[in-house]
Amino acid sequence: MAAPNIDTIVSLAKRRGFVFPSSEVYGGLGSAWDYGPLGVELCNNVKQSWWRWLVYERDDIDGIDSSIILNRLVWKYSGHEATFNDWLIDCRKCKGRFRADKIVDNKCPSCGASDWTEARPFNTMLQTKLGAVADDDSTALAYLRPETAQGIFINFLNVQTTMRRKLPFGIAQVGKSFRNEVTPGNFILRTREFEQMEMEYFVSPSAEHSKLVDYWVEQYLEWFGSLGISRDNLYLYEVPKEELAHYSNRTVDIMYKYFPEREKPWEELMGIAWRTDFDLSTHSKNRLDEEGKRINPDSTEDLSYFDEPTKQRFYPHVIEPAAGVNRTVLAVLMDAYSETKTDKGETRVILKLSPRLAPIKAAILPLAKNKPEIVGMAKAIKRSLQPVLRAVYDDTGGIGKLYARQDEIGTPFCITVDHQSLEDEAVTVRDRDTWEQERIKVTELAEHLQKRLKPYPIPPPPEPI
Ligand code: GAP
Repeated sequence: MAAPNIDTIVSLAKRRGFVFPSSEVYGGLGSAWDYGPLGVELCNNVKQSWWRWLVYERDDIDGIDSSIILNRLVWKYSGHEATFNDWLIDCRKCKGRFRADKIVDNKCPSCGASDWTEARPFNTMLQTKLGAVADDDSTALAYLRPETAQGIFINFLNVQTTMRRKLPFGIAQVGKSFRNEVTPGNFILRTREFEQMEMEYFVSPSAEHSKLVDYWVEQYLEWFGSLGISRDNLYLYEVPKEELAHYSNRTVDIMYKYFPEREKPWEELMGIAWRTDFDLSTHSKNRLDEEGKRINPDSTEDLSYFDEPTKQRFYPHVIEPAAGVNRTVLAVLMDAYSETKTDKGETRVILKLSPRLAPIKAAILPLAKNKPEIVGMAKAIKRSLQPVLRAVYDDTGGIGKLYARQDEIGTPFCITVDHQSLEDEAVTVRDRDTWEQERIKVTELAEHLQKRLKPYPIPPPPEPI
């Protein structure tokens, strides 16, 4: 089973310390969310899993961390200043303002009228000013990046030469992006500040680009599976030509069933785009347009690549898998959500997170908190496990309550220290999903847990096409 709707996750996330509405003490800030003690661990685990999978386990990808604020010219030549727009229309009757592409049946969502102004573009890059400048000094204008990708393109040559890379190879980056979304909402699905995990895979202009898009779609389906997301809740959307971004020749979106209760349950989880050679050539000083004029008179570099075997110089093409951290976290939480009934008929929530992603791997619970020997032994076990896995000590309730709390936050193992433990140097290990218990010697505990926490094996990647 998965969560019946996003609201179920919103309430669990707040109740248990995953995600809080931001700025609550001042009445909140629409569409901004703060990650709590468990949410930050879950996000970090998703990002680490992604990084390990692409940067460590493969041999053809390096990671970088570029600035959030880049030279404004990056956004001029990437096309974002001219085209990163939402189209807005106003209702003449109620004066409401909406995104034109979200209007159904030409009716105003507020008052039902169909009397609209002309659609006009609204650039969704968030602006800021650099330095101690006057309000009207337009030269100080800068943007918070709307995608992490441009930081990768402008570093293409730096990475290629310092890491001595030959095509095909990729550059990965994870970090915050910002968009002044007109209609943010649905919890962490659409916010103005969010995190992306993007990878630009550089290939020859004569590579089989469409096959490479399919290859990365398959790779990501595999990775989402390793995070515990069911294939049944994913759907592939071939973006029609007329909806493609200005740089794309082909894009496939991987959609997740964020709205199982709706007739149209799918929303984008990530996209895989063939970005052609658009970005590397647009940032290059040597590229000429059809009339022989430089397309970029401001650039001081040429981001072309010399291919030794063919002795040719060209701008590599790019296959870009671009995923959102927050949308992945939401999909993971929705898929992990399950309910079960106790013998007494009470409903219990179990968050069946992949152990690799669980914020806490083991909770050490003393059966009697007023017995110093038991408490001392439990705390010593917590300290001994901590170097190998994330463990917590908890004595703030009866054992039933403590188990229920750990189930609800997805802790795979509860370790109970009881009177018997003082005699036999063994503890009870309870499994989150089956509630089965087994007795394990304290000296064997760390190894036992590590074995059971073994990550879901992702098969080695097939040879690049
Ligand atoms: N570099 C290409 C690019 O940025 P995108 O489809 O606009 O492509 C990639 O964004 C991913 O970033 C999306 O699939 C989504 O997961 C995430 N994303 C985009 N806008 C978002 C927003 N406002 N809130 C949360 N996540 C967002």
